Amino acid sequence: MNKVLIIGAGGVGNVVAHKCAMVPEVFGEITLASRTVSKCEAIAADVKQRTGRGIATAAVDADNVAETAALIRRTGAKLVINVALPYQDLSIMDACLEAGADYLDTANYEPKDVAKFEYSWQWAYQERFREAGRSALLGSGFDPGVTNVFTAWALKHHFDEIHTLDIIDVNGGDHGHAFATNFNPEINIREVTAECRHWEDGAFVGTPPMSEHRGFTCPEGVGTYEIYRMYHEELESLVKHIPTIRRAQFWMSFSPNYLKHLEVLQNVGMTRIDEVEYQGQKIIPLQFLKAVLPNPGDLGERTKGRTCIGNVITGLKDGKPKAVYVYNICDHEKCFEEVGSQAISYTTGVPAMIGAKQMLEGAWRKEGVWNMEQHDPDPFMADLNVHGLPWTCVELTPEQAAAFQVA
Ligand SMILES: NC(=O)c1ccc[n+]([C@@H]2O[C@H](COP(=O)([O-])OP(=O)(O)OC[C@H]3O[C@@H](n4cnc5c(N)ncnc54)[C@H](OP(=O)(O)O)[C@@H]3O)[C@@H](O)[C@H]2O)c1
Repeated sequence: MNKVLIIGAGGVGNVVAHKCAMVPEVFGEITLASRTVSKCEAIAADVKQRTGRGIATAAVDADNVAETAALIRRTGAKLVINVALPYQDLSIMDACLEAGADYLDTANYEPKDVAKFEYSWQWAYQERFREAGRSALLGSGFDPGVTNVFTAWALKHHFDEIHTLDIIDVNGGDHGHAFATNFNPEINIREVTAECRHWEDGAFVGTPPMSEHRGFTCPEGVGTYEIYRMYHEELESLVKHIPTIRRAQFWMSFSPNYLKHLEVLQNVGMTRIDEVEYQGQKIIPLQFLKAVLPNPGDLGERTKGRTCIGNVITGLKDGKPKAVYVYNICDHEKCFEEVGSQAISYTTGVPAMIGAKQMLEGAWRKEGVWNMEQHDPDPFMADLNVHGLPWTCVELTPEQAAAFQVA
């Protein structure tokens, strides 16, 4: 019987716990641990009510390697699903090596004091995981995660060579607040305010944050939104592992209202991540801001609308130009009905469960440290259709692809 340990009881942890509990033949015994154990207990009670399954709970400070390793040993976990924050990635990887467990996460490591997104720190664990006979899967959320698998699947079934990749993440949801972020505000705002980088002819090119944008009409009536080019971590692994890619860009939709609030918050210094002195105490403005913003985990109840995340991919097949759009549409209200979370947490938590399932079943269990596109995409793509994130692939003309005309 497979035993798993989920670390992190936020919006994403809630979905992972529910979805693992719904697949008892793979996830035999589940423990949910986080810094605040009451959050784990509340999720466990909801899992019990919705699925009839009991899951264990525990308190852990995942910054502490010895404490985390002791918990892994105590639970007998074969695999640790890390859905805490990116700051904990390395300490949880260390704990997995110490206690002898496999590892999975949904976001790459970030140091707390600098908004720097790169895989180098985690790729440096390759030899240690291989030598220990352990497997690590990096970035098993939606983006990164499903977007990497969409690319690998398109390469396997539609292209001989991929030349351009545009990942387009639209959230057409409305939560009714003046300003809120859909996942951890600190991580979200660090990402959105960072310098934009995209891949062009063999190198990353830097441009000011949010400086490049265009309109995008989603398929299936999700709507028309303004999408902004920004850096996203899957670009780094995808251009490394699929070297024929000449240009890779990531786009995300933002409403004028979100951008207006963000600009003001930046202008007044509330998005700073360095320490400031306040009444004899040192505080980090962005962490304080997180404390006063709506909790993303509580947005589910009031969020309406759909997300639409997909890849426009161009390249060559049998010597001829070809283009496809692979996408998923997810409804906020349906997610809430199923697991009590909005679609952003759902679209991250479901792929985390599916990645864990591939590892436990053996299809994706290779010793070492791996990104999603390095595994066979087929079993993962099949499971997306079964476990709540069905996808569609449409062929585009080269002109439609260049204009992002997918509707
Ligand atoms: N790939 C994707 O598509 C994607 C999309 C969205 C999010 N994500 C990632 O998913 C992860 C979770 O996001 P979320 O929205 O669920 O965040 P969240 O709601 O803030 O939840 C994070 C959880 O981690 C816990 N935690 C923080 N530090 C900890 C520590 N030192 N030890 C133990 N637990 C700790 C928190 O505990 P407390 O409650 O005590 O603070 C909280 O329960 C993040 O890494 C985020 O970047 C990935």
